[in-house]
Amino acid sequence: MIGRLNHIAIAVPDLAASCRQYTQMLGADVGDAQDLPEHGVTVVFVTLPNTKVELLHPLGEASPIAGFLEKSPGGGIHHVCYEVEDILAARDRLTEEGARVLGDGTPRTGAHGKPVLFLHPKDFDGCLIELEQV
Ligand code: CO
Repeated sequence: MIGRLNHIAIAVPDLAASCRQYTQMLGADVGDAQDLPEHGVTVVFVTLPNTKVELLHPLGEASPIAGFLEKSPGGGIHHVCYEVEDILAARDRLTEEGARVLGDGTPRTGAHGKPVLFLHPKDFDGCLIELEQV
């Protein structure tokens, strides 16, 4: 059911420093910062030949990644994103199989303007999974 790895998201405490590192040290193609107030994050996409890295930094008071950075102040891998063709069919199959979808199960619009859902990390070996319909 899942397809390509769309991106790996890394929560970073200092976005400018991470961008410099990916640009200068790693020689990667680093995009511009985008504020996504409805998600409580600022994101920067690093485009690699086979996938992307999403650098995530908290935006505003109720950012969903503020707690993550409190527990891991140095940053860390926050989630992985797999592509699916039909997000509603994917959701129904997952809930039938006993996996928990975060929120009310209604897909939201993600950082690329496409519908996304998140799956409970306790159901997937401690890994928060994002599904994106492509
Ligand atoms: Co993501």
